[in-house]
Amino acid sequence: MSAQFPPASKSAPEWVGPTNPDLTRQCRTSGRKRGTNGSVTTRVGKPQKYRLNAPYDFAPHSPWFEDWFQDIYTKSRGRTLMKEDSAYVIHQVCRHCLHLDGDFAECGVYKGGSAFLIAWSLAQNGATERRWFHVFDTFQGMPPSANADPSGIKQGRFGDTSLSAVQEYLKEFPFVRFHHGYIPTTLDPVKDRRFAFVHIDVDLYQTTKDCLDSFCDRIVPGRVMIFDDCGWAVFTDSEKRAVDEFLANKREVPVSLRSGQCIVIKL
Ligand SMILES: C[S@@+](CC[C@H](N)C(=O)[O-])C[C@H]1O[C@@H](n2cnc3c(N)ncnc32)[C@H](O)[C@@H]1O
Repeated sequence: MSAQFPPASKSAPEWVGPTNPDLTRQCRTSGRKRGTNGSVTTRVGKPQKYRLNAPYDFAPHSPWFEDWFQDIYTKSRGRTLMKEDSAYVIHQVCRHCLHLDGDFAECGVYKGGSAFLIAWSLAQNGATERRWFHVFDTFQGMPPSANADPSGIKQGRFGDTSLSAVQEYLKEFPFVRFHHGYIPTTLDPVKDRRFAFVHIDVDLYQTTKDCLDSFCDRIVPGRVMIFDDCGWAVFTDSEKRAVDEFLANKREVPVSLRSGQCIVIKL
């Protein structure tokens, strides 16, 4: 069955494609509707900017569903909000960056799932001798500043975690350094470090801005920053806005991925 391509007219922004059981499941959470002919129609908040640009019967290469990566992803299951495709990007970019000098960092740790994948990727590749992996979070959920964030996320969200629980979960990785408390006040101890890889998954505009202000000049050229949530409509005015504003007068460009992530390679 061939795909029907999106209509050109802006007044009819539906995305129509053939039946796909996986999509049926997604429809329930993303507002897609199943038509009488078995097709799937997408009409999300801002359809011109936020729609999947692929015919559904053009199967994309999906290495994150292969057994070798499922074995890796399983290690963080239940402790991360990341789906397989995002986790795969993290893992592969880690593998790239471990050949480059500099520490690794993650801002926004929650229960430690994505941090585990990063630490595990480093450890598997024997890349922990001359570097630390710094993790930053309140470890008690979103700070009060969340209440002013355009995303609608509120103080205390992601509060079902603790520093000791994450320390226990990551205890097999002695090269992890915990920075417990409110960003940016916890960034000072790393002000003299240089970074090869920084993962930012803090959702909020102000926290993302604070991370960029602090880290960007200390990432060495060729190294990578990954932002977890720039590609979701709900974070357009928070994480994405912070990244766009920061890069507006810089040479680096945000590279958007289908996973919702955005990558910035330091020049
Ligand atoms: C989406 S969760 C991180 C999820 C995690 N990376 C995963 O999927 O495995 C976002 C985290 O950012 C943290 N956060 C946001 N703003 C912060 C700030 N100003 N200081 C410290 N932590 C912050 C929250 O506490 C929360 O744990």
